[in-house]
Amino acid sequence: MPNKNIFEAKNLVKEFGQGKTRNTVLKGLNFEIGDGEIVTIVGGSACGKSVIAKHLLGFLQPTKGELLYKGKKITNQRDHWQTVQPIFQDPFSAFNQFFSIRSQLEDSFKVLYNKPSKAEIKDKVDEALLAVNVMPSDLKEKFPFELSGGQMQRMLLARIFALKPQVLIADEATSMVDACVRANILDYLMKLKEELNMTIVFITHDIGLAYYVSDRIFVMHDGQIVEHGTPDDVALNPKSPQTIQLLEDIPDIHKDWVVRKRA
Ligand SMILES: Nc1ncnc2c1ncn2[C@@H]1O[C@H](COP(=O)(O)OP(=O)(O)OP(=O)(O)O)[C@@H](O)[C@H]1O
Ligand SMILES: [Mg+2]
Repeated sequence: MPNKNIFEAKNLVKEFGQGKTRNTVLKGLNFEIGDGEIVTIVGGSACGKSVIAKHLLGFLQPTKGELLYKGKKITNQRDHWQTVQPIFQDPFSAFNQFFSIRSQLEDSFKVLYNKPSKAEIKDKVDEALLAVNVMPSDLKEKFPFELSGGQMQRMLLARIFALKPQVLIADEATSMVDACVRANILDYLMKLKEELNMTIVFITHDIGLAYYVSDRIFVMHDGQIVEHGTPDDVALNPKSPQTIQLLEDIPDIHKDWVVRKRA
């Protein structure tokens, strides 16, 4: 269980635009994410999930309130990325189409101040590819446009398996893969979490998936956290109408996990 806070949001507000075009996307969020915790943020489209992810990654700064990482504001992005790394929704925008995937996986170590040697990087990338069920020899000089969406998403995961960050922000990381690969990816992330005591923030529309993987679930709606608690609190005893709606919307494939317990 968590012993100290990795992230702490205090009245976190994010506004985009000014004057008449001003749009308040995060409306005063208060939350804590503990060391080694898996927290899933679940909610419908455009409720603000990815905007939170971008704050957690140091890409965006709050308009009001604050977000603390290990008790401090995130002021230097490169410092932050030594320990906090993303997997994003769209793997195609995360890779450059003009360079081989292998070279980009190797280049991802450039973010680290303590970069391993070339030989070590090669080994780490091979190991990471095997971890996501890709034979390094099959990838060789492949470019992003030569892979399917699901394969590309696995390449984003391989990046994480190579870098082994302390904190992972996974925004819809499994949205493009089929159910079998999704289960493998989740199992592997759980294994990484066990090995490294990684803190993981998962973002998804699917409260069934959230129920399966999380220590705690935050349910978001329209820029606010409308409900939070353990998976059992949230899924078996939902209080907000948005949580009830999300439970109705669980894809059939995951329904068993929750419905069996609710019955
Ligand atoms: N850079 C930006 N400038 C202006 N508005 C933005 C910006 N980024 C996000 N928004 C707006 O913030 C709102 C929340 O967006 P966000 O990307 O967080 O949604 P989401 O919950 O991740 O949705 P989805 O599940 O579809 O990915 C949306 O209305 C979006 O248009
Ligand atoms: Mg999003």
